[in-house]
Amino acid sequence: MDYLKVIGKKKLNGSVKISGAKNAALPLLASTILSSNSIKISNLPDVVDINTLLKLLEMLGSTYNKNNNILTIDSTTVDQTKATYDIVKTMRASILVLGPLLTRFGHCEVSLPGGCAIGQRPVDLHLKALEQMGATIEIKNGYIEAKAPQGLQGATIVFDKITVTGTENIVMAAALASGVTTIVNAAREPEVVQLCEVLQDAGLQIDGIGSNTLKIVGSNKKLLPFKDFKIIPDRIEAGTYLCAGAITNSILKVENVEPAHLEAVLSKLEEMGFSVLIEENNITLLPANKVKTVNIVTTEYPGFPTDMQAQFMALSTMADGVSIIDEKLFENRFMHVSELIRMGADITLNGTVATIKGTPKELYGADVMATDLRASSALVLAALVANGETNIHRIYHLDRGYDKLEEKLTNLGANITRDKEK
Ligand code: EPZ
Repeated sequence: MDYLKVIGKKKLNGSVKISGAKNAALPLLASTILSSNSIKISNLPDVVDINTLLKLLEMLGSTYNKNNNILTIDSTTVDQTKATYDIVKTMRASILVLGPLLTRFGHCEVSLPGGCAIGQRPVDLHLKALEQMGATIEIKNGYIEAKAPQGLQGATIVFDKITVTGTENIVMAAALASGVTTIVNAAREPEVVQLCEVLQDAGLQIDGIGSNTLKIVGSNKKLLPFKDFKIIPDRIEAGTYLCAGAITNSILKVENVEPAHLEAVLSKLEEMGFSVLIEENNITLLPANKVKTVNIVTTEYPGFPTDMQAQFMALSTMADGVSIIDEKLFENRFMHVSELIRMGADITLNGTVATIKGTPKELYGADVMATDLRASSALVLAALVANGETNIHRIYHLDRGYDKLEEKLTNLGANITRDKEK
């Protein structure tokens, strides 16, 4: 296993190119099961989760080849409909093959994704919606056994909670269903929007893209002629690097981004005293004279993203006063708190609310442990500004969602190296 060694207190400068969005690429790769042709996908991030889903698609019968970050994939050759536990347990987003497999083949078995560090992560809303579309769903030996021998029927689905992958699964299920599916209380994340746009470019009739109500006219099991496409920039990776600039109070530029996807994050950085210069596809962060406190409540897009909560908690240790962060989406997304405390942060938890007392708080290097993808990035941010050496262990969590993190940070001036555990 690898660990990252970071020597803190280095100013950053320069610019970093942001990769394609992992959380856009995952549903889009699953959606290739709906395609009648081979597709070229560019700007694919080189992260573990993408390689895991490609392995699953290959097990199902897809064929693909990658050169640099351009993927050519043909899923017309898919002829298996079982996503096994051994692969699903390594990445819960494998649940995204459920909708496409069921709507194309009329049956499939997908291992129930386990929970993960940040919460129980149920998929009940996905399953309830598919039943409303005519599927019979049984849970047997840890597998979701879904059947719809006559194909799926369009229905009106009202999600009790806004669910990103739930919306994506049902959009894909509706694509080949017969009749009209209306999704009420749909997620509006940019990653959901891109999935809808790619399906619309493939000839599917979808109304309401980007709103909370989507209306899809199914193709009645006819595979769709996909066009080639480019994955949108990763707004969370971009936000993470902006926080790296902010926590070290440096001038830092992120390139190849979509600033409109980062409005809530940019607004909080400005609230904390930083300035942001926005060009078409770049954002430059300018240092704060004094880092101010912040109050954050995580919510669905376009509100403040839960995937940026840990990073802002690390940043708020540098603020002059008390900041409050309320994590409303996941029941256990404070795993980074105990590790930040070990680095000298003053954070107290009360249910879903974290209180962070910055002074600006001096942090000091320590051995710390990554627990989940975004918590890990918060520990890297804290290490950049801590006195001395920090060793971050179990960084396989980081590798799931950050493309060449230490290379990008080194190019920005950080002292960060990857070593093998003894
Ligand atoms: C997606 O997860 C993202 N993953 C997560 O990013 C992100 O944190 C999350 O959306 C929220 O934005 C991908 O897109 C691959 P949800 P998802 O379904 O779809 C509850 C990262 O760091 N819920 O929107 O699994 C659920 O428990 C990852 O890249 C149900 O109760 O999240 C949660 O409280 C972490 N029943 C809330 O809804 C369901 O059937 C939102 O979950 C589904 C969800």
